Amino acid sequence: MIGRAMRRPEEDDVGQEHSPGRPGLSVVPTGPGEASVLRNDAEPLAGTVLLLSGPNLSLLGERQPEVYGYQSLDDHVATATRAAAEHGLSLEHVQSEYEGALVEAVHGARRRAAAIVVNAGALTHYSWALHDALAAFEGPVVELHLSHPGRREPWRHLSVVTPVATGVIAGFGGEGYRLAIEAVASLLRARHA
Ligand code: DQA
Repeated sequence: MIGRAMRRPEEDDVGQEHSPGRPGLSVVPTGPGEASVLRNDAEPLAGTVLLLSGPNLSLLGERQPEVYGYQSLDDHVATATRAAAEHGLSLEHVQSEYEGALVEAVHGARRRAAAIVVNAGALTHYSWALHDALAAFEGPVVELHLSHPGRREPWRHLSVVTPVATGVIAGFGGEGYRLAIEAVASLLRARHA
């Protein structure tokens, strides 16, 4: 499954509109005694985020909903696409049951995409080929899981993606797709500050 949303980026166009020195996030007091909120008042970013989905994620919504929830992969892609658009980023999605297809998608992202969000499914736990491909990608990599693998069966506790990921978001269900894009936006702003 390959999806492409919005425009292809110009090479290296990430963050060109960002004014140096301008804070990406500001704390906005909401009133006496009320909690402050974080407001994103930065200039929009630009560029493509590649969202990679590994084996069996095509079955989300039907597959072990007590673990992975009732939302489909299309629902999660829509969440990520919306979150990306709020930052001026476009989202490209590749899902495959095959390790090699995901490795090729990472190769295709080199020198082209601004960042990668990867939920590699079970490949997370043993695909050194995906590890090596991600290591060759120059931008931020956010590892994403719907569940919290560290709280599940022992064989899920090892991630071979983690050593090449900038950070990990796990255990927040579908909300993780929005959080992963927020993390990407924050990392891209930091790179171009
Ligand atoms: C998963 C966790 C993996 O252990 C599992 O093999 C998946 C989904 C998650 O999103 O929680 O397929 O990556």
